[in-house]
Amino acid sequence: MYVLVKGGTVVTAADTYAADILIQGPTISRIEKDLNYPADQVIDASGKLVFPGGVDVHVHNDEVFGGTHSADDFYSGTVAAACGGTTTVVDFAYQSKGGSLAAALGEWQAKGEGKAAIDYGLHMIIVDVSDEILAEIPAMVEEGVTSFKMFMAYKNDLMVSDGDLFRVLQKCRQAGAVVSVHAENGDLLDVLVKGHLSRGETAPKYHAASRPPAVEAEATGRAITIARLADAPLYIVHLSCAEALSEVCHARAAGQPVFAETCPQYLCLDSRVYDAPGFEAAKFVCSPPIRDKRHQEALWSGLRSGNLQTVGSDHSSFNFQGQKELGREDFSKIPNGIPGAETRLYLLYTYGVLSGRISLNRFVDIACTAPAKLFGLFPKKGTIAVGSDADMVIWDPKKEFTIAQRDLHNNMDYTPFEGMRVRGAPSTVLSKGEVIFRNGSFCGRVGTGEFLKRGRSSESLNTAPPASTP
Ligand code: URP
Ligand code: ZN
Ligand code: ZN
Repeated sequence: MYVLVKGGTVVTAADTYAADILIQGPTISRIEKDLNYPADQVIDASGKLVFPGGVDVHVHNDEVFGGTHSADDFYSGTVAAACGGTTTVVDFAYQSKGGSLAAALGEWQAKGEGKAAIDYGLHMIIVDVSDEILAEIPAMVEEGVTSFKMFMAYKNDLMVSDGDLFRVLQKCRQAGAVVSVHAENGDLLDVLVKGHLSRGETAPKYHAASRPPAVEAEATGRAITIARLADAPLYIVHLSCAEALSEVCHARAAGQPVFAETCPQYLCLDSRVYDAPGFEAAKFVCSPPIRDKRHQEALWSGLRSGNLQTVGSDHSSFNFQGQKELGREDFSKIPNGIPGAETRLYLLYTYGVLSGRISLNRFVDIACTAPAKLFGLFPKKGTIAVGSDADMVIWDPKKEFTIAQRDLHNNMDYTPFEGMRVRGAPSTVLSKGEVIFRNGSFCGRVGTGEFLKRGRSSESLNTAPPASTP
C-alpha cells in the first residue's frame, strides 16, 4: 500500500520546506519536491502544514487515582489524543505497594493490548523501593520501559523518601534509564492542607492556596541535588512556576543533565480559574495547581531558551459529576488532574506559534521531537524522515474554532479549556501510514496501537546542552 501526501509544507524541529511524502506501508519511503508516484491513495495537503504526529509523554489512562477510576481507558484516551494530532503517548504503569515491577508492567500492557488506537509506551512508577525492586530495573529496561517516575508528593500514599529516590537514580544511571519526578514537597503540603481544612477552608480554591510555588521549587531543587549526587539524568514532570524553572536553569547552566516538561494548563490558564463560582473551580484541580499569570511568560521563555524541552498534557480524566464532586466538602478529596491530550496541540499552536512566542519548528520540537528523543522513541517517532514511522498530521492552519467538550472525543463531561478560541487543527492524521482521523472524526481501528519497546534515552540525556537563562 502506497500513500502520497502531496503539496504540503513539511515542518520538522529543524526545517520548513515544500515537499511531497511517499509512504510505503507503515513507514516514510521518500520525501521529494514534485514527487509523482502511482500511489493507492493521494492526500492533498496543499495549503496545509505536514508535521510529525505529536508525542505526548505524560498521559494517564485507565488508572485509579485519588480514590476513583479515570474516565478514559486506553481506547477513549488514545482516540482523543489522535483526534488532536497526537500519534504516540507514553502512559504510566503503577507498581502496587509490595508488588513487583514485572506485575505492574503486565497489568498495564493488558490495559493497552487490543484497545489502544495509537502506539504507546509505558513509564514505570515506583512507589515502594526495596533491593528486589532495584534489581528489577535492568529487566524493565530490556522490556522497553526505560523511564521511571517517583512522587515527592502525596504523603502516606505514593510519596517516596529522598533516600529511595537516590537509590533509584543510582540504579537507573547504571541501567541507562531516566528518572522523572513529581516535584512538590509532600511533607509541607500535608501541613499546609491540614491547616486550611482546620480553618474550615474547604473550597477548591484552597487546593491552589495550599500548594504555593515555593513548595514546588524546593522539591525541584532537592531532586536536582539528589540527581547530582547520584550522577544521574533527571526529568521534571509538569513544571508549573518560575521559581522551579529557575532551579532547572541553574542546574543546566552548571552542565547538569536536567530536563523539564510543562503543560498547556500552565501556559494558557491562570489562577483566576479558581475564582469560578460554587464548586466549578474543582474542574481545575491538578497538582501542581494552575499559577498566577506572571508564571506564564517565564514558562514560554523557558521553552524558547531550551531550558524547558517538552510540553506534555498530563491528561488525567476525572469527570466533574461524580468524580471531582468527591471533594465537595473537602478540597483534598478532589481527584487531582485535568484532561488535555486532545487539546494540547491546538493550544500550543495558537498561544505559542500564532502569538509569536515560539517558532513553528520549536512547536514541533517541544510537542513531537524532543519528547521522542528524551524517551527513546526517536527517529521511529517524532520526526518526518525516510525510514521513520508514517505518523503525521496534515494541519490546517486556517481552521478556527472554539474548544467545546461536546466536540472532543474523550469520555469526559467537561474540558478546562471550554470556550477558548483557537486557530489551527488537524485535517488528517496518519498513524503508521493509515488515516486515523479525517473530517473531524476518528476513522482508525481499535487495538492497532502497539506497545513500544523504547530504547535507552538518547545521548541528549547525558549531556545538558548549553542553554541561556530566561
Ligand atoms: O494533578 C495531576 N497532575 N494529576 C495526575 C497525576 C500526577 O501527579 O501527575
Ligand atoms: Zn505528577
Ligand atoms: Zn501526571
